[in-house]
Amino acid sequence: MFEHIETAPPDPILGLTDAFVKDPRPGKINLGVGVYKDESGKTPIFASVKRAEERILRDETTKSYLPIPGAPEYGAAVRRMIFGADHPILEAKRAVTAHTPGGTGALRVAGDFIKVNLSTNRIWVSAPTWENHRAVFQAAGLEVETYPYYDADGKQLAFGAMMQALETVPAGEVVLLHACCHNPTGMDPDAEQWKAIADVTARRGFLPFFDFAYQGLGGGLEQDATGLRTVAARVDEFLVSSSFAKNFGLYNERAGAITLVARSEEDAQRAFSQLKVRIRTNYSNPPSHGGAIVTTVLNDPELHALWESEVTAMCARINGMRTLFVETLEAKGVERDFSFITRQRGMFSFSGLTKDQVAVLRDQYGIYVVGSGRINVAAMTPSNMDRLCTVIAEVLQG
Ligand code: LMR
Repeated sequence: MFEHIETAPPDPILGLTDAFVKDPRPGKINLGVGVYKDESGKTPIFASVKRAEERILRDETTKSYLPIPGAPEYGAAVRRMIFGADHPILEAKRAVTAHTPGGTGALRVAGDFIKVNLSTNRIWVSAPTWENHRAVFQAAGLEVETYPYYDADGKQLAFGAMMQALETVPAGEVVLLHACCHNPTGMDPDAEQWKAIADVTARRGFLPFFDFAYQGLGGGLEQDATGLRTVAARVDEFLVSSSFAKNFGLYNERAGAITLVARSEEDAQRAFSQLKVRIRTNYSNPPSHGGAIVTTVLNDPELHALWESEVTAMCARINGMRTLFVETLEAKGVERDFSFITRQRGMFSFSGLTKDQVAVLRDQYGIYVVGSGRINVAAMTPSNMDRLCTVIAEVLQG
């Protein structure tokens, strides 16, 4: 039965980690997968998370199932993070949230919901976008279209072309927007551009779907929600997928959420009943631990303050690495202008390195970068910077 099955190609991001782990070279550097490293090159557990876990282990009395959409207090905490505490959408009970296994789980649940419960089969994603978006939505049976997003020559948002494309999206179709820290380019719309996006969304009547995987890693927890909240003020219905992998460091706990906002509480509850069917027929109900951590931290003022300071420090370290990277490349005699990297936000930079250069970096020097040229700035450290920039300078010279 199985002998005819062909080997699947390695995953463009997680496959790199597999190859990296097997690589015996001592100076290897993994700038592939979006995982944060501290100054010493480790991926730490947040102090706020450790403290929450101690409490959870002390107080938990059962391992019985969670409800299909997870614990209601988790959903409430997630919504407050997305919208702020007193948002009118929350007051009107127009938003419902399900705890999903990671942001990817949220995308897949939403993909299934769009396929089964909406009258469209099509989702529009930015070009480029996260490597897994297309695959997840296609696996849910959706047709994936793209809208232009990035001007590779100008190293900036292709905003005009993006708006032109959005003007053609038919009402009722779905448009995926990165709420902040665009993956892979690191280029986000500014406040004025978000207003224009809100305008076109309201005028055309398509359904915005925000992928919100990096809240707090751009300009801060509140500021990173500006774009989403700007659109939310103009349209009645939308979807949000959240991930707490990065901003809580909960990568392997798979803590994510899908939030649906409807016109009324009744609409929201009916849609929620369908979301629950999509979940039940997929993984039944979510794993508890990661969600319990997020709820505990967000609902305790002291842990919340500690966590916020940890997110702020992480964000500052990443931005420090952006500056150091640009300065070190310059010091190594690289003539190409890399200053655009300091204008990008979040973990990632679209470096402009070609596929061939990426292959040389990996094969000759043990430096792992995603094939698109996306580099994870959050894995740069003061101690790997010198070698990294020496090698990039060499590779750029051909
Ligand atoms: C990334 O883009 O590197 C992260 O979101 C991890 C992943 O699952 O790909």
